[in-house]
Amino acid sequence: MEKKFIVVGVSGGIAAFKACQLVSDLSKKYDVQVIMTKNACNFVNPITFETLTKKKCLVDTFDRNFEFKVEHVSVAKACDVFVVVPASANVIAKFANGIADDMLSTTMLACNKPRIICPAMNVNMYENPATQHNLETLRNYGYTIVEPGVGYLACGDEAKGRLADLEDIKEAISIALHEDKPLAGKKVVVSAGPTMEAIDPVRYITNHSSGKMGYALARAARNMGANVTLVSGQTSLSKPYGMTTISVTSAEDMYQAIVANQDADIIIKAAAVADYTPVEVATQKVKKSDSDMSIPLKRTKDILKYLGENKRANQVTCGFAMETTNLEEYGNEKLTKKNADMIVCNNVLVEGAGFKGDTNVITIITKDGMKRAIKDTKENLSYIILEELIEILKTKEGN
Ligand code: CTP
Repeated sequence: MEKKFIVVGVSGGIAAFKACQLVSDLSKKYDVQVIMTKNACNFVNPITFETLTKKKCLVDTFDRNFEFKVEHVSVAKACDVFVVVPASANVIAKFANGIADDMLSTTMLACNKPRIICPAMNVNMYENPATQHNLETLRNYGYTIVEPGVGYLACGDEAKGRLADLEDIKEAISIALHEDKPLAGKKVVVSAGPTMEAIDPVRYITNHSSGKMGYALARAARNMGANVTLVSGQTSLSKPYGMTTISVTSAEDMYQAIVANQDADIIIKAAAVADYTPVEVATQKVKKSDSDMSIPLKRTKDILKYLGENKRANQVTCGFAMETTNLEEYGNEKLTKKNADMIVCNNVLVEGAGFKGDTNVITIITKDGMKRAIKDTKENLSYIILEELIEILKTKEGN
C-alpha cells in the first residue's frame, strides 16, 4: 500500500523544537513534507527536517531551486493530511482570514484536505479574543484544533498555551487519515482494564489485564467516527485523545459508569471485571497473625448480564471471555447467559494472545456462528471486531 502523505507546517514559536520529534515519528510510517515559515527557521534549521524527511524543506514560495511545478498547489493536492505544529497566533490569523503571503499560508489556502491546527503560544496571546475568534472561524471552516495544554510556558507562565502532547497530535492525524466513518452519529461505550477490589486501605484483589485490547477498540471506534466513552480500570495507559474517559477502580464503580452510559448503540465489555469482592472492606490495615486467614468474598454485579437483561431495541452488546479450554462451548454459554450479540474469546495460553502483549488471537462467537483463531495486532483486531458489530447493528436497525 502506498504511504500516506502528511504535510507538516512549522511556524515561528519555541515549540518548533517539538515538531522535530513529531516529524521523526511520522516519517517512520508516512511520507512527510515539511513547510516552514521564515520565522520558524530562527528556531530550527530546515536541515533538521530535511535530514528527517529526506526531502527539501519548503520555506520560500519563489525558490527556483527545484523541479518545476506550482509547488504550493501540488503539495496541497497530494497531501492526505495537513498539520501545523506549532501554529502561532500569526499563522492562525492568516489561515482564518485567507491571507496567503508565504509558502505555508499559500499551501494552506490551496488545501481542501483534512487540516489540523496545533496552537502553541503565550497564554495571553492564546486567550486574546482575536485568537479565540480566529480559532472559532477555523473550526467552522472544518479545521480540527488540537487544543494546547496547561503547563510551563517559555515566557515563564504556568498556564494554557503549551503545545498539545505529540501522542494526541498523532492520534488526531490517525482520525483524519481514517476516511471511512461507518460509526458517525453512533455512541460506543468500551470498558477496559482490570478492576481493583479493596481488602483494606493498603491491599486489593486485581488481575493482569493491561487494558490494551479495550483501548485499541476505543481508538478504532473513534477513528470510525463514533462518539466514544471509555470506562477504564486502573492501567498504565494514557487517556486516549478524542473521547470521554471515565476512570474507575472497583467492579461497582464500573457498573455505575456503564449504567450511566447505557444509551450507547454499541457497548463492548473488554474489561476484566472481578467476579468477587470482599464482603467487608477493613477501614484499618489488617494486621497479620500466626494463623492462616481467609477473606469472605461476595459476587459482584455482572455488568454484561445486566446489559443483556436491559437491552434497548437496536442496541448491540459484546463481551470478552478469557478461557483456557473449550472456547467454543464456554463462549456460546456466555453469549446465551448474558444475552450478548458477540463474545470475543481468547486463550491466554496460546502464543501471541494474552494480557500484556500488542497482539491477540481471538475467536468471534455470534448467534450466526463462529470465526476461529484470528491472529493479529490488537489494533487490527479492533477493526475486525467493530466491522462485525456494525453488521449486527445494521441488521437490527433494518438496514
Ligand atoms: N463481566 C461483567 N461483569 C462482571 C464480570 C464479567 O460485565 N461482574 C464481563 C466481562 O467484562 C467480559 C465477560 O463478562 O466481557 C466475561 O464473562 P465472565 O462470565 O465473567 O467470564 P470469566 O469471569 O472470565 O469466566 P468464568 O465465568 O469462566 O469465571
